[in-house]
Amino acid sequence: MCGIVGYIGERAAQPVLINCLKRLEYRGYDSCGIALLGGYTEIYKDAVRIEALEKSLQPNDSVIGIGHTRWATHGKPSEVNAHPHSDCSGKIAVVHNGVIENYMQLREQLTGEGHVFSSETDTEVIPHLIEKYYDRNLEQAVSRALNEITGSYAFITIHADSGELILSRKDSPLIIGIGDGEYFVASDVPAVLDYTDRVIYLEDGDLAAITKQGISITNNNERVTRVEDRVPWTVEEAQKAGYEHFMIKEIHEQPKVIRNTFAGHISALESEVELGLKNKEMGFSNILILACGTSYHAALIGKHVIQKLTQVPVTVDIASEFNYSESVLGNTLVMVITQSGETADCMKALKKAKELGCYTLVITNVVGSSAARIADDVLYIKAGPEISVAATKSFVAQLVMLYLFALSRSSIDVRSRASLIAELRQLPNKIHEILNREEDIAEQGRYLAGYENAFFVARGISYPVALEGALKVKEIAYIHAEGYAAGELKHGPFALLTPETPVIAIATRDNTYETILANIKEIKARESPVVAIAEDGDDEIGKYVDAVIRIPSVDPLFAPTTAVVALHLLAYYTAKERGCSIDMPRNLAKSVTVE
Ligand code: AGP
Repeated sequence: MCGIVGYIGERAAQPVLINCLKRLEYRGYDSCGIALLGGYTEIYKDAVRIEALEKSLQPNDSVIGIGHTRWATHGKPSEVNAHPHSDCSGKIAVVHNGVIENYMQLREQLTGEGHVFSSETDTEVIPHLIEKYYDRNLEQAVSRALNEITGSYAFITIHADSGELILSRKDSPLIIGIGDGEYFVASDVPAVLDYTDRVIYLEDGDLAAITKQGISITNNNERVTRVEDRVPWTVEEAQKAGYEHFMIKEIHEQPKVIRNTFAGHISALESEVELGLKNKEMGFSNILILACGTSYHAALIGKHVIQKLTQVPVTVDIASEFNYSESVLGNTLVMVITQSGETADCMKALKKAKELGCYTLVITNVVGSSAARIADDVLYIKAGPEISVAATKSFVAQLVMLYLFALSRSSIDVRSRASLIAELRQLPNKIHEILNREEDIAEQGRYLAGYENAFFVARGISYPVALEGALKVKEIAYIHAEGYAAGELKHGPFALLTPETPVIAIATRDNTYETILANIKEIKARESPVVAIAEDGDDEIGKYVDAVIRIPSVDPLFAPTTAVVALHLLAYYTAKERGCSIDMPRNLAKSVTVE
């Protein structure tokens, strides 16, 4: 999704803005641009990568500027549609994330008043509205412009006659990084980590004016103060550390991440889990989990785990679909799982759940994210910055948090709980064992890379892992892959099975094992090649499949955590073999802030 940055201070703004934009590249973009303030406003932008824009720039000593990476929504990627956008005078520049819903009506009205538009974007109405109201006070002009805008936004504006940054947000994230006599603005924390770990998270409706002397923030025309926070991430965590891609680095971080996720939550006697929730006495008759994409797959696994350990009924819905449901929720805990904490569909669902009077709990990775701030309670998975668009370590950390949640409310006896906790503690070692077999999995990835279609199948608690494996292969290797409940293949998709359609079958030894073996035989009878994900010591499976990816044995409840690591590696090496852009797959964005 789009990224925005801004700088005001003593150093040359241009290299700072370019560096901050590079730190946002992972979000996905198709164009970029910057605007610098001297005695006038200079704009440089195009539908190019940031490196190309950087090469085209001349040195510039302006100390105030704004920048943007665009992920096209209104109008194709092009120089004219790239941000920053300007007004008729050319003095104002604006970078914006979000969607201005009434832009057509505003554009018509402003055109009637003599304003001339050059792009197809919704954003361009903002500088023209500011121009309309500008009377030597930029903050006031922005405030008046905001009264006319409906939709979502995080934007920064500058004016050639005014040495300040004016910014505002509604339903789109915006933070201010605080340096020594300088300020950084960004839509996402990693953008500013090279310069500072001191940040202010703006709230919806905030309008901030930043000069070199300081920040003033108003909300609804009232002066407000926002507390300064420390970011718990380091610059090193947001870098590749010698790995070829962020994705493989993040896969390798998983043992450490799991330890971080459960750190501080397990009692000294290893038999209790304490999550430190605000409402410890939560007594709910049922739980609804809402999420998107990979987080939705974690939710589906969470359903199995929570129901098994707590006997509380759980339903799972795709966040965007929940927004259309006529929900009768009653005494329901609504849990929203979102790595970024900014996914627009999740935010809308969370707000709806709150309006319905439900207690809301967010599981997220990002401290200070929008979801974390509006939910009644929050659990941080502590996975560290996840830069690759493909979620890997955050998925495993979400699973661990769901295990902890279920264990903290479990109705099982102390001894069984202690034994599950002991097993959970072993997961990092088990994942290390899988990482040690990386080359074997890479070989299967190179094999899968030769096909254009594939199925991922599993049963029971592993079925969402099949969905996740297929999503990853689609997302980064551009192979059409379907995740299927193994029992459903014969109800239609069998028609697609040919020697050109490999099937990846997750066959860990739980209560579904015998049935999935039978399914594998049916698939082989249709001549599809089969690669199984199977446990060490399973001597049976090799007789029926073409290849086996081995994973260590764990309690069936935890098997999704190990199986998925093998699938993430498989997808990575498949994509690598196909020469795909692994960390920034085409058309995708890390944090999806539009509905
Ligand atoms: C995962 O590989 C995807 N990039 C995507 O499905 C992602 O999980 C989804 O957009 C949800 O994001 P969130 O967890 O930040 O809400």
